[in-house]
Amino acid sequence: MPTHRKQQEEARDQHSVVDESEAVLRTENVKVTYGDTLALRDVSMDVPKNQVTALIGPSGCGKSTLLRCFNRLNDLIDGCKVEGKVFYRDKNLYSSKIDPVSVRRRIGMVFQKPNPFPKSIYDNITYGAKVNGFKGDMDELVEQSLQRAALWGEVKDKLKENGLSLSGGQQQRLCIARAIALKPEVVLMDEPCSSLDPVSTERVEDLIHELKEDYTIVIVTHNMHQATRVSDFTAFFNAEESDDGSRFGYLVEYDRTERVFEDPQEEATQKYVSGKFG
Ligand SMILES: Nc1ncnc2c1ncn2[C@@H]1O[C@H](COP(=O)(O)OP(=O)(O)O)[C@@H](O)[C@H]1O
Ligand SMILES: [Mg+2]
Repeated sequence: MPTHRKQQEEARDQHSVVDESEAVLRTENVKVTYGDTLALRDVSMDVPKNQVTALIGPSGCGKSTLLRCFNRLNDLIDGCKVEGKVFYRDKNLYSSKIDPVSVRRRIGMVFQKPNPFPKSIYDNITYGAKVNGFKGDMDELVEQSLQRAALWGEVKDKLKENGLSLSGGQQQRLCIARAIALKPEVVLMDEPCSSLDPVSTERVEDLIHELKEDYTIVIVTHNMHQATRVSDFTAFFNAEESDDGSRFGYLVEYDRTERVFEDPQEEATQKYVSGKFG
């Protein structure tokens, strides 16, 4: 049996790492192709509630691709096809009855490069709420969201200034505030610190710790120290070459972060976490 097959079958059993009743998201044999090219295959994993789950692995192993499966952002990429099942609670996210826009409201995303709207700090927070017909107190929503994102103190006297005038680290916290203003249940983060300096990175990492009280977080990171600092669970992905020479990603090992880093069960994981490749 090819090694990736064997590893996938074992990975499938790793559902059990997470108590099923605590799973907010779960994938079953997810396979993603871009046109004719396989990008990710047979991913089965559960994402536990109010925990931070890190997706790690070498570049091109499908981490961002999987993250986008969780809120149907791959729908927006031409030629991208998602097979298998993705459940949010008991709902199959890819069923024809599901509205992808409402999915993205419940499952928010923070991207690698901070991308505030070219609007005031205030409007960055209220924009999505208005679109979604929020009828409550906007000032309160702005303060709460910025407080939650640990940015309020730095911006409370300049809410009318453009979001783009903030530093990179502040912009990223603004994007987190914007995501949580929609009161999502899950926040997906794709390498949220990769464009930030060490001080801003630390602030965002502290924030991630705090946010898991209220939210379920899935974070892609290429920084293994970050994975050990912020996550409770870690999924390690690797890439393998297919017959036509293209590479596809698959889940190698999924477990509590401590175990993945201190007592990995697979040789590939052991090599990766000890910095031998990737
Ligand atoms: N928009 C896209 N169109 C075509 N191929 C893509 C696209 N996004 C990603 N891929 C391919 O899918 C594979 C996985 O990519 P990605 O999910 O970005 O990996 P990672 O985030 O782990 O670096 C790669 O081979 C990449 O080239
Ligand atoms: Mg990526």
